[in-house]
Amino acid sequence: MGHMGAGAPQPQPLPGVAHVVAVGSGKGGVGKTTVAVNLSVALAKLGYKVGLVDADIYGPNVPTMLGATRQPNVVGENRIEPVVAHGVKFISIGLISPGDKPMVMRGPMLHQIIRQFLQQVEWGELDFLLIDLPPGTGDVVISLVQTVPLTGAVVVSTGSSVALEDARKALEMFHQVKVEVLGLVENMSQMTLPSGEVIDVFGAGGTERTAAQFGLDFLGALELNPQIREGGDRGMPIALAGPDSKLSSEVYNVARRVADKAKEIAAKSEDVFEIS
Ligand SMILES: Nc1ncnc2c1ncn2[C@@H]1O[C@H](COP(=O)(O)OP(=O)(O)OP(=O)(O)O)[C@@H](O)[C@H]1O
Ligand SMILES: [Mg+2]
Repeated sequence: MGHMGAGAPQPQPLPGVAHVVAVGSGKGGVGKTTVAVNLSVALAKLGYKVGLVDADIYGPNVPTMLGATRQPNVVGENRIEPVVAHGVKFISIGLISPGDKPMVMRGPMLHQIIRQFLQQVEWGELDFLLIDLPPGTGDVVISLVQTVPLTGAVVVSTGSSVALEDARKALEMFHQVKVEVLGLVENMSQMTLPSGEVIDVFGAGGTERTAAQFGLDFLGALELNPQIREGGDRGMPIALAGPDSKLSSEVYNVARRVADKAKEIAAKSEDVFEIS
């Protein structure tokens, strides 16, 4: 700690929140928000207490994908109550500034909003607070790691070479800011046609190979499926179908692996504290 430059604030754990897990990628549009939302719903259905921060200030998609657009209540001294959808507590700039008006702001404001989303929201007791990151590497991740200690990050990619090229940058960025990578998820891996024929749209298997190259866990592969897109657009994520549904069982596999890995990493870092 203390490597972020003189005067940089030390990250403080959020009281009551066990694990903060960021969901990122390198490339935009590979399905971070879809994965973050479905993981949140799946973890909630598995019995965990779950929160989700939409850290995409310029393109907040979480309210639509969770199907809730109510304004959050402000309580007490400027505390914000998260909105609850499908058993997940969440916050998004899209709840506060809805409509098509873009948020035009400078870096310091962005940093302030990320801090507020973490510290000024009444998260209560949570097992997992997921963070849906914006595309690319950079600002938001720095704000995040300066504000709270993260258990780790999940990196989403398609299997295509260009997406993986960017995913490797994301891996390097997490390494630089000392955030452990829980593992990689391949999204839109392949597609099953109604005939049963499986087509490889984005290079299935590429993400698993990349994970192996980096000595990281591969957390699972979600198919390219119009029902996943539709679920997102309707605010009814496919994870609502439950762990036994063919449609969403892999989401639950990924969710269980994320939960197990997060607990494993947290236990490991406790050991380190005991030794020192
Ligand atoms: N497995 C999938 N099958 C079908 N459609 C999908 C799948 N994953 C994501 N999509 C669709 O692809 C689009 C992009 O997904 P999403 O918004 O989750 O990506 P993102 O990485 O968060 O994008 P951004 O970089 O803009 O934040 C959305 O319309 C979403 O519904
Ligand atoms: Mg997104």
